Amino acid sequence: MMIALIALAPATMSAQTEHGFKAMAIEQDFAENGFNWFRHALLLAAGNEQQNNAMTIGWGGIGTLWRKTAVTVYVAEKRYTKQFMDNAQYFTVMAFTDRKEEILEYMGTKSGRDGDKAKALNLHTAYTQNGTPYYIEADMVIECRTMYAAPFDPQYFRDEVPRNMYAHFPAGFHTMYIGEVVGAWKK
Ligand SMILES: Cc1cc2nc3c(=O)[nH]c(=O)nc-3n(C[C@H](O)[C@H](O)[C@H](O)COP(=O)(O)O)c2cc1C
Repeated sequence: MMIALIALAPATMSAQTEHGFKAMAIEQDFAENGFNWFRHALLLAAGNEQQNNAMTIGWGGIGTLWRKTAVTVYVAEKRYTKQFMDNAQYFTVMAFTDRKEEILEYMGTKSGRDGDKAKALNLHTAYTQNGTPYYIEADMVIECRTMYAAPFDPQYFRDEVPRNMYAHFPAGFHTMYIGEVVGAWKK
């Protein structure tokens, strides 16, 4: 029944408030510890209503840049999600409570190249007013508009931490995506 309702929902519906989410004023209402928030793993999604994908992320940052409230995420070259990050103007970062371990483990070990991960997990995709995908099963959704994206360049590595990291990292250098927060919703 729920699936039928979602399938019938008009593409432009402001779905985030229809699925039990409440809009958040991120600067006031965000109560997580920013130093640990990414470490505990989140989902990153990008794409459009025709094609989209999500993956688990464990690296990222929250803060301010260019007078904007900003979220930074890092996507390795070989991730299927990368093409969606490169082609779309927006992305979402999602936190889960229910089924968190199952979802993050699957999304972080399987590739969307080999099949629809959301479908396999029975997650339901909805879209923000900007057409950015998110899952209605998430507990928190932050939508960002990419302001800057660039791959790490080894000529700028200043110590052994990044050099050692990429010496044995077959997925390639990460691209940094810095997004302005344009919407945030929490259940
Ligand atoms: C806990 C955890 C954290 C991860 N963090 C990142 C990350 O920050 N950046 C990244 O590029 N890959 C990260 N990954 C790996 C991707 O989630 C994984 O390669 C995924 O299968 C990519 O899916 P895709 O090919 O559908 O994009 C993480 C995986 C796990 C399990």
